[in-house]
Amino acid sequence: MAQPLRIALAGLGTVGGGVIRLIETNGALIARRAGRPIEIVAVCARDRGKDRGVDLSRYPWEDDMTLLAGREDVDVVVELVGGADGPALALARRTLAAGKGLVTANKAMIAHHGMELAEAAEKAGAPLKFEAAVAGGIPVIKGLREGAAANRVARVYGILNGTCNYILSTMERSGRDFAEVLKDAQDLGYAEADPAFDIEGVDAAHKLAILAGIAFGGRIDFAAMEIAGITRIRAADIAQAAALGYKIRLIGLAESEGAENGMGGLFQRVQPCLVPREHPLAAVDGPTNAVVVEGNFSGRLLFQGAGAGDGPTASAVVADLIDIARGDTGMPFSVPVAELETLARADSGRRRARAYLRFTVADRPGVLAEITAAMRDAGVSIESLIQQGRPEEGGEVLVAMVTHEGPESGVAHALALLEGSASLTEPPLVMPLLG
Ligand SMILES: NC(=O)c1ccc[n+]([C@@H]2O[C@H](COP(=O)([O-])OP(=O)(O)OC[C@H]3O[C@@H](n4cnc5c(N)ncnc54)[C@H](OP(=O)(O)O)[C@@H]3O)[C@@H](O)[C@H]2O)c1
Repeated sequence: MAQPLRIALAGLGTVGGGVIRLIETNGALIARRAGRPIEIVAVCARDRGKDRGVDLSRYPWEDDMTLLAGREDVDVVVELVGGADGPALALARRTLAAGKGLVTANKAMIAHHGMELAEAAEKAGAPLKFEAAVAGGIPVIKGLREGAAANRVARVYGILNGTCNYILSTMERSGRDFAEVLKDAQDLGYAEADPAFDIEGVDAAHKLAILAGIAFGGRIDFAAMEIAGITRIRAADIAQAAALGYKIRLIGLAESEGAENGMGGLFQRVQPCLVPREHPLAAVDGPTNAVVVEGNFSGRLLFQGAGAGDGPTASAVVADLIDIARGDTGMPFSVPVAELETLARADSGRRRARAYLRFTVADRPGVLAEITAAMRDAGVSIESLIQQGRPEEGGEVLVAMVTHEGPESGVAHALALLEGSASLTEPPLVMPLLG
């Protein structure tokens, strides 16, 4: 058999430990499929003494992670440390500069520095792969780059954060409020001790930025991403959505404006949406991820599976290593970085949608008239006023409504008219209905 592919593992946490277990468990099968064995020749983490549930004594330990890049005996560095910048980025730069391959699960780093790293990889003629960075074990990058390569993609969207999906589907099942369910998710290990990146939508946005770059052949533009998380969703919103035949899901959506009106421009947003109960994404429960790709010849493709966890994520990391072992060192973003377009940002105000609006208002006469007048003045037509709830303690009432389809700028205008109104006890919550 040919020379082994020699890899160094930086980071031995959830994913790093999974990669070791996977290579140890399926080594023979992997070697057959890759045409050669994958051999771990160095490992590195912060704490050498930590019990990681795997026997590390057979793998040479490196104290300083950046030294992995310079080792003569390493073909590919596998970066499983995390963080957009800092040590992970320093290691990535050094690895590619040294002409070695880089495999990473680090979505934050690829979303922010993917263009620079792809350029460095091209210059060095070295592979750069990041299947595990998007939707854990789901081979969606491969699906887009290879399976759907012949298509013009109109839209790519999906459920990209398992923590949020777990929280929303648990709120739906239990009728409990966000804060309580988040606490349970943390106790069960479905949410980090610091869940901000997940629940505020940033993690999903990192993944969406990467998907959008590949799907639309554009340079990653993370700054163009509109991001809203799930922290303001109440059990009452979920109940109202259910009454209308919808589920609430945090959706990352990237869409070419040109697909509908020929204006060009890329729309990228992470936001909770009302998803029709019959849509495949409505059936995605718990920590599962799912991505929909709409190609002009393929039609709608659905990728679904575990979006995180040691096993699924390791499966994606090792798939990248198998590709490299076979000699598949294709362009990270399908085309050379110089050929990626700088896509214009779509004007989201022009986007047409039906929307769910929820107002939290003081319990006094005239409030509903004030809201409906603002909607009328902004040219937004109300399809249904779902509820004027009974006053909760403190005299607060929830008013929820669904608008007819119209430009998002209309709703934004209506909310601007209501801004500062003493009738509203908190800013309104707006969620589009997924069309
Ligand atoms: N967990 C998932 O399900 C998942 C899914 C998809 C993608 N990812 C991505 O995969 C990457 C790793 O995630 P993870 O969940 O495995 O993280 P983790 O469990 O926190 O592990 C991180 C590892 O990096 C090591 N490390 C941190 N700073 C270091 C430094 N300066 N020098 C050397 N080692 C250092 C840590 O060492 P110690 O163990 O000694 O502290 C630890 O072993 C992240 O980019 C994450 O976004 C994770």
